[in-house]
Amino acid sequence: MAETKRATFGSKLGIILASVGSAVGLGNIWRFPYEAGSGGGGAFLIVYLLCVLGLGLPLMMTEFMIGRRSGSNAVQAFEKLSGKKAWDIIGAMGVVTSMIIIGFYSVVAGWTLEYIYQAVSGSLANKSTEMFTAEFAQFISDPVRPIMWTVLFMVITHIIIVSGIKKGIERSSKILMPALFLILLALCIRSLLLPGAEEGLRFLLWPDFSKINSSVILSAMGQAFFSLSLGCACMITYASYFSGKDNLRTSALSVTMLDTLVAILSGVMIFPAVFSFGIEPTLGPTLVFVTLPNIFAQLPLGGLWAFVFFVLLALAALTSIISLHEVITAFVCEKFKTSRRIGALAVTATGCLFAAVCSLSLGRWSGYTVCGMNIFDASDFLTAKILMPLGAFMVCIFAGWVMGHKAVEDELGNHGSLRFKAIGLYMFFLKFIAPIAIVLIFLNELGLFQS
Ligand code: TRP
Repeated sequence: MAETKRATFGSKLGIILASVGSAVGLGNIWRFPYEAGSGGGGAFLIVYLLCVLGLGLPLMMTEFMIGRRSGSNAVQAFEKLSGKKAWDIIGAMGVVTSMIIIGFYSVVAGWTLEYIYQAVSGSLANKSTEMFTAEFAQFISDPVRPIMWTVLFMVITHIIIVSGIKKGIERSSKILMPALFLILLALCIRSLLLPGAEEGLRFLLWPDFSKINSSVILSAMGQAFFSLSLGCACMITYASYFSGKDNLRTSALSVTMLDTLVAILSGVMIFPAVFSFGIEPTLGPTLVFVTLPNIFAQLPLGGLWAFVFFVLLALAALTSIISLHEVITAFVCEKFKTSRRIGALAVTATGCLFAAVCSLSLGRWSGYTVCGMNIFDASDFLTAKILMPLGAFMVCIFAGWVMGHKAVEDELGNHGSLRFKAIGLYMFFLKFIAPIAIVLIFLNELGLFQS
């Protein structure tokens, strides 16, 4: 079979920005605050940081390593590196997980478009907290409007995916990420100046250790994987476009640090405002969307701030959803030998369909539940708390036991040109520590350790 030449990212900066583009998204600004709010604030933050450093960072190195060494899509990467088709299952799971994530993620991305529209039309101004909350609840349960925005979002994603890796993904990340960062900083400052801000800051930063329980730990691990785009072959796919000269370890470190910084800044932006406006921190997926308009309403030129912020948030969501889409598209095109245009079209159409179901499950179809959750919440739960930890577990087992010491050292050390002193410790981590930690966190949640 003739190998087709694959595209690559243009530069080191391009590699980091594209990966940060994938990692930084709604996971940091929408999902992190509501998970932290439900998980007790500071207690959640501490466990989250431990998960990011202890599991997320080494796992990102591992996904980068698998991706670059194989140079192929998520599914075939595992076969290529092991010589056995059975290992494809890890990549196949990643493809399925990515599709489910696209389903609910694009719905939330659609909500950001509605807010852009409202900022422009002026309807975000001068309302009470109760009014924002009631109107938002009504909007997300509407059977038509949110789906329309979601489909528009998927169409934009589709256009970028079809225009290719370098032009589409790399170029858009270079400008958007720094802009998002700056506006986030400005909003943090505004939020910290609100009356009663200290209480929110204390909630986020002061850990109440009695709040740490098994489900907080599982949520924090799930959030760490979700935010870093790990456990569903996304970083494997991106790394297959990396150049052979890049230092995978420092790249993984930069991406992890930047992603975590954005999550913490989002917390600093949201919680002072949550407490200042008397919103419940445990509100769940709507938390950010009912808190932010209150902050904007307090600012001079609030509509303009809201507009810029939601445009950037939508763009951050776009660079993330592109990475999810790319996992599936790369697989479909290389596996079924279709053109990028056709492969991407199939992915976009399936994504839209699933997103419509997720959106309807917040309104008209809210009666259909899985384990007591509507389909939107169930998809989020299934991916972040089951499929992604399982994917991460299998990636560690694969790298530690199947690829083995030599191949791992060779790839992370760029074939002998970089030194990797901690390889022994790293292999021990892959073979034992990470898989055991993930399993223990699971069993703990299932209640197996309670007497
Ligand atoms: N990490 C992204 C965010 O925080 C979402 C995302 C993109 C993702 N690609 C992923 C999540 C792959 C899990 C797996 O918004």
